[in-house]
Amino acid sequence: MSNSVTYECQNDIALIAIDNPPVNALSQTVRQGLLDCMERFDKDDSARIAIVIGKGRLFLGGADIAEFGKPPLPPSLPDVINRIEACEKPVVAAIHGAALGGGLEVGLGAHYRVAAQGTKLGLPEVKLGLIPGATGTQRIPRLIGIDNALTMMTTGQPVLAEKAVSMGLIDKLISGSDIHAGAVEFAAEVLSGDFSDEYQQASLVRRTSERPAPIMPESTRQAWHEKLSASARGEVAAIKALEAVALSSKVDFHQGVQEERRLFMELMDTPQRSGLIHAFFSERKVSSLAELEGVEALPVASLGVIGGGTMGAGIATAALLGGFHVTLIERDQESLKKAGSTIERNLDGALKRGKITEQEHNKLLGTQLVTETNYNTLSEADLIIEAVFESMDVKKMVFEALDAVAKPNAIFATNTSYLDVNEIAAVTKRPESVIGLHFFSPAHVMKLLEVVVADKTSPALVATAFWLAKRLGKTAVKAGVCDGFIGNRILMHYRTAADHMVLDGASPYQVDKALTNYGFAMGPYAVSDLAGLDIGYATRQRRAPIAHPRERYPIYADELYSLGRLGQKTGMGYYLYPDGSRIGVEDPAVEAIVSQARVEAGITPVTFSDEEIVRRYMAAMINEAARVLEEGIASRPLDVDVVFLYGYGFPRWRGGPLHTADQIGLDKVLKDIELFAEQDDFFWQPAPLLKKLVEQGRNFSSLNP
Ligand code: NAI
Repeated sequence: MSNSVTYECQNDIALIAIDNPPVNALSQTVRQGLLDCMERFDKDDSARIAIVIGKGRLFLGGADIAEFGKPPLPPSLPDVINRIEACEKPVVAAIHGAALGGGLEVGLGAHYRVAAQGTKLGLPEVKLGLIPGATGTQRIPRLIGIDNALTMMTTGQPVLAEKAVSMGLIDKLISGSDIHAGAVEFAAEVLSGDFSDEYQQASLVRRTSERPAPIMPESTRQAWHEKLSASARGEVAAIKALEAVALSSKVDFHQGVQEERRLFMELMDTPQRSGLIHAFFSERKVSSLAELEGVEALPVASLGVIGGGTMGAGIATAALLGGFHVTLIERDQESLKKAGSTIERNLDGALKRGKITEQEHNKLLGTQLVTETNYNTLSEADLIIEAVFESMDVKKMVFEALDAVAKPNAIFATNTSYLDVNEIAAVTKRPESVIGLHFFSPAHVMKLLEVVVADKTSPALVATAFWLAKRLGKTAVKAGVCDGFIGNRILMHYRTAADHMVLDGASPYQVDKALTNYGFAMGPYAVSDLAGLDIGYATRQRRAPIAHPRERYPIYADELYSLGRLGQKTGMGYYLYPDGSRIGVEDPAVEAIVSQARVEAGITPVTFSDEEIVRRYMAAMINEAARVLEEGIASRPLDVDVVFLYGYGFPRWRGGPLHTADQIGLDKVLKDIELFAEQDDFFWQPAPLLKKLVEQGRNFSSLNP
């Protein structure tokens, strides 16, 4: 018998305990152990009921990721689960901490389920491009109904045990911390007949597979299909989950399980799954940096934020929600008042979504936040984040003032989107204490944090930035100093490729549609409207003195700016936003402005297929990403991928731009760039790293650790 699962019988009760630290993953030894224990239990005359329990901090964490991509080792999980259910004496799953994926499916195989308060029960397979593949899709609708089952499977979000009881997923909530004692008490109830329902048989077993499956009316299936298709952005797993559940109401359990397997195996082989797995592992690796090994983060309890506009107010909100004491500095009382009400509005939203209680909300605003115009109030802050206007002169003034008042070991951070962090650091007497913390808008929502490491930034600051990101529930990626760091630098390049296509004949609306159909959350022109066309204008103005004479210029964008069409905030930009709507409507006037720009530039418009739009956009993105890598601005391809997944609405199931590049084939990407260069050999210069990888027959993945 395996050491990962132990069997012990006391007072009629067989205790089957899983012990596979750290998360009781369902490794081969656990599966075998469970199977052996079920055989033993059925034969053990001294045992009348069994309890399956997990040792350590949770019940079962799910599949063993170390077995991913390897040939499957018997016994299979569905076989183990069916064996549990086939037991002739009752089996209780005693769940604490979490039961996720295959772990919950094991629980579904048991005849009864009890769970400790606060336990998370979830089927997150969809997040890896899969559906539950160990009979879960057929058992769970029988227990909790179609809508609940589909919500769990298609969002991948866990439910808490408290709610699971009302859904019928859990038979009894165990209060207190002793799940073992609670399960023993429940087992006694079952044996004494105090717990019974219509599904129980004389032997006290209660097999979920024998329950009738709920009927799914065609109208329900269609409504779910529409809802899932609208949010899928090309991702297929959620739709397959619907298919599996729809089948459960049409065929018998065993046939349903076979169909589930077929759908599961289909998904196993898709590039989508490979993209999602890449995303999953990249997120885990992104914070593990060799240079930070053994480097301790500095203690940070109080935070200062300078500037309370869009970003500063968002950063202050994130910091308050992360448990920090925050001092916010603005220029004058009026701006201070505005910043205060933005933060209050943000926290109201958090309260509404149930992220904080009313009491916490009041405490955060009442005692955790201080708003001031006087820089002296920052004298005790451990970390001060600057988020004033994107102007080098203003930022230099702020950092000089800060240098004079901050305590000696304080950390200075700038939230600049593009400016040179070395130049900012140089105005202080402590450049080693200056770092870039590039948050994304809205800062209390977006998960990405680019940690910009300047020439003199001390490693302890970098470690602190990664620690801070974790505290704020964000994902940090290390970046080097250049115009735009990792994300905005690459964005500028592919955005330019989009502008070239518009200049040459594509409409901004066609570009946006082609890219959202590809899976992007938004197209570049809808993004401009969201960010504000003044931002792009300011960037073009800033870059004008260094622009190369061969750079092509999107004059239509300046024209829109000068017409006051600044995007959503003015009710019109590339799109119209009537009556404050956030959904843009196409505007023929914009097409006319673009046409006029073509005439002025002497361009004869050509047509672009949607496929070519995507090819050019992706080629530009991949090419610039290769340069960013080669220059060391991003340390590894996976860093670029994580930046785009978390900060730029890149379709997660495609794994990120460089994973996508590998999927397309780097030789094909290079050929595209060479082809496009026949029209514009200034913009389309292949990155040396891309050429080198193609010559060596390697891919970006070979540069990941
Ligand atoms: P904003 O214009 O909304 O806010 C800037 C705030 O700074 C204003 O409230 C202003 O009153 C205040 N301010 C200006 N000078 C000040 C001073 N000397 N002392 C105290 N407060 C002062 O600008 P936004 O969008 O919040 O941008 C701030 C920074 O964040 C910029 O560096 C920008 O590039 C960067 N950023 C902006 C993003 C965005 O999507 N808006 C995204 C990521 C970074």
